[in-house]
Amino acid sequence: MRLLFPPSPPRQPCAVAQPFGSRSWAYVPLLGLLAAVALEPEGLSAAMMPDAVRIPVIKEHPGDIPPDAALFRHGTHATFVCAVCHPATFPAYPLGFTHKEMNEGRFCATCHDGKASTAIAEMTCEACHAKP
Ligand code: HEC
Ligand code: HEC
Ligand code: HEC
Repeated sequence: MRLLFPPSPPRQPCAVAQPFGSRSWAYVPLLGLLAAVALEPEGLSAAMMPDAVRIPVIKEHPGDIPPDAALFRHGTHATFVCAVCHPATFPAYPLGFTHKEMNEGRFCATCHDGKASTAIAEMTCEACHAKP
């Protein structure tokens, strides 16, 4: 006897790539990350930004004075957007420099010059050469 309604062909596996299979909820964290980056473009790089950065020592501290390498805190400079400092004044990777270069108005002295902010000579050594 002929079937009036032939059985439908077996289902083919879906051709579209589905790394999480049918568990579409697994995309939710990914969408969240994309949304965060879209809302705040600096979000990703800021997540990789350490709060405090030790400036590499490239010239000795005679007699261990001061004992500690200078420390830069992103936290106390958060009124500035990244582009105020990066990449023109500082690269976003460890780079050493000296007081001689700062005395020429470079690096920290682009602001710590007694006009834009406190002059280096008016700060205590420990303000920058801070303990761990
Ligand atoms: C505005 C921040 C700042 C202040 C204030 C500061 N320094 Fe520095 N100093 C640095 C940075 C940045 C370096 C480079 C990294 C390092 O060697 O610690 C440095 C380097 C040095 C060096 C290495 C050699 C050289 O000439 O660069 C010595 C020595 C030194 N500082 C001594 C002092 C003394 C002493 C004082 C206080 C009278 C002082 N610093 C105040 C930021 C500062
Ligand atoms: C006021 C200046 C200033 C601002 C504003 C600033 N930075 Fe930095 N940043 C620095 C300095 C100084 C260093 C250390 C560079 C060196 O070693 O010479 C640094 C280092 C870094 C590093 C490398 C850290 C490491 O371990 O070496 C990253 C990443 C970075 N900054 C990201 C950011 C991001 C993202 C922003 C904005 C949200 C930002 N910075 C804003 C001054 C600044
Ligand atoms: C874009 C301008 C700018 C640059 C570049 C900058 N500073 Fe500052 N910094 C400021 C301002 C503004 C303040 C707030 C108080 C003031 O005016 O001194 C400050 C405050 C500080 C303080 C006191 C608060 C704290 O963190 O303990 C230290 C120390 C300091 N800066 C170190 C540095 C060092 C070291 C560098 C270079 C690696 C640097 N700054 C580069 C603008 C800057």
